Amino acid sequence: MDKRTFIKNSGLLGLGAVLNIDSFSDLMQSVSSVPSSDLAKEEDFWLTIRKGYRLNPDMINFENGYYNFLPEQTLEKLIAHIREVNYQASYYMRTVQFQKKADIAAKLAGLAGCPADEVVITRNTTESLDTIIGGLDWKPGDEALMAEQDYPAMLSMFKQVAKRHGVVNKIVSVPNNPSSDDEIVNLYANAITPNTKLLMICHMINLTGHILPVRKICDMAHNKGVPVMVDGAHAFGHFRFTIPELDCDYYGSSLHKWLSVPLGSGLLWVKKENISKVWPLMAPFDMSPDDIRRLNHIGTHPVYTDLTIEDALVYYNMLGAERKEARLRYIQNYWTDKVRNIPHVILNTPADPARSCAIANVGVKSLKPGELGDVLWKKYKIYCAPIDGANVHGCRITPNVYTTIAELDVLVNALAEMK
Ligand SMILES: Cc1ncc(COP(=O)(O)O)c(C=O)c1O
Repeated sequence: MDKRTFIKNSGLLGLGAVLNIDSFSDLMQSVSSVPSSDLAKEEDFWLTIRKGYRLNPDMINFENGYYNFLPEQTLEKLIAHIREVNYQASYYMRTVQFQKKADIAAKLAGLAGCPADEVVITRNTTESLDTIIGGLDWKPGDEALMAEQDYPAMLSMFKQVAKRHGVVNKIVSVPNNPSSDDEIVNLYANAITPNTKLLMICHMINLTGHILPVRKICDMAHNKGVPVMVDGAHAFGHFRFTIPELDCDYYGSSLHKWLSVPLGSGLLWVKKENISKVWPLMAPFDMSPDDIRRLNHIGTHPVYTDLTIEDALVYYNMLGAERKEARLRYIQNYWTDKVRNIPHVILNTPADPARSCAIANVGVKSLKPGELGDVLWKKYKIYCAPIDGANVHGCRITPNVYTTIAELDVLVNALAEMK
């Protein structure tokens, strides 16, 4: 059946102001046979998804890379969890808190395709990865390898480890437009020495949205006996992958980014055989050396955030990972294809669709990134993240599933106008 007729026939496009869980479920049922690549272009469908969000009418939010704020469906669940924990109070904390957290971590492990006893819920990627960087048994002269495009919080932790333990940090620069995977693999391979004890790579570089060939980098590093830690802050819930298929050693992500969990939620995965090699940042109670919960002693924290992970997973699974990824890639390609050949525009994100998803970074030759961000905000009400460093000079544009083509057209026209 013609997909447009199919969706129109479902009668769901005229839904009320907010998409609730029942109408969401009916909507998804009505499109279950539409291929994701076709649905990605169905603006009416995505306008209905948009109704599930409370949006600020005074801006076009292209800064979802910091925080993918919650659809109303998940927000209501968070509020209900806050009420319930407040009602049960210490009783909740003393009885079911830890079992609930373990159960939810197991669900995350399911999505990541890895064993539940290798995953813990942290507060963010910074906590996940700094636990590893700070917790390894470094010796003077050991080398750590990373890129200048890595996230500043992790680079700072490596600097601290260098001061404290005499570790030497080697820093490469990842090209914005590589000609092949080999170019990137060789960049890292050439910087590895017999002293290299850890390689950190981004799954997706936050400045440009560039997806790195993680599996190939891991294979190369392992051949040289070097473990790999992957910064997946922007990957989980954004595009599909499983951690085992990457074959890395450590993986961290922020769930308040692409999984739309409330602020302060992350994931740490450590390969079983590596767990005992890491000293916890905060000392745990007595536990077996290979129990990953050793690395997760954070004290009392907002448990309702943990509980809402389950609801965010429900939303994500209802929308569908494949459908979400297809739409995000479609909208990024929609606007980047329109501006890539404008002579005064510089795109800092690879053109190869396999190397990006929702995020892209754009510059205008005559403007500094801060100036570009200023014009976009003041003249066009576009909110985005200007970036000026690490060989990236432009504004990071991060749409989300509620983004419309009309909003992207505002950006395209703005860029075309700016000479
Ligand atoms: C690549 C990357 N790593 C790590 C982080 C840190 O995330 P968080 O502040 O949630 O710890 C970010 C945040 O934007 C990021 O983009």
